[in-house]
Amino acid sequence: MIEVRFVSADGTRIQRVQGAEGERLLEVAQNAGQPLEGTCEGQMACSTCHVIVAPEDFGRLVPASEEEEDMLDLAMGAVRTSRLACQIMLRPELYGLTVQMPGGHRDMHRR
Ligand code: FES
Repeated sequence: MIEVRFVSADGTRIQRVQGAEGERLLEVAQNAGQPLEGTCEGQMACSTCHVIVAPEDFGRLVPASEEEEDMLDLAMGAVRTSRLACQIMLRPELYGLTVQMPGGHRDMHRR
């Protein structure tokens, strides 16, 4: 299993969750009760699955497609390391991936 960590929007809570290889980060987050709507179910048409990736983990992800970048431009509170959770498939190399829910303080980016 691959461990991922979800940080609450205000940065005060961290939830560690195990996901399976090939699972989408969006599904892992939703199964864990994280507040990601994922309205379009991965069709890259909503941006409600927006998460902020920890800067140290960002480079481990497969780069975003142009379509994803376009959706992120519309996402509320998007930052340089924002991604759509529906576009991130879990791989063993992503063990320990940390993402924050958007909308609150951006504690991970203040360091
Ligand atoms: Fe809609 Fe990811 S679920 S863009």
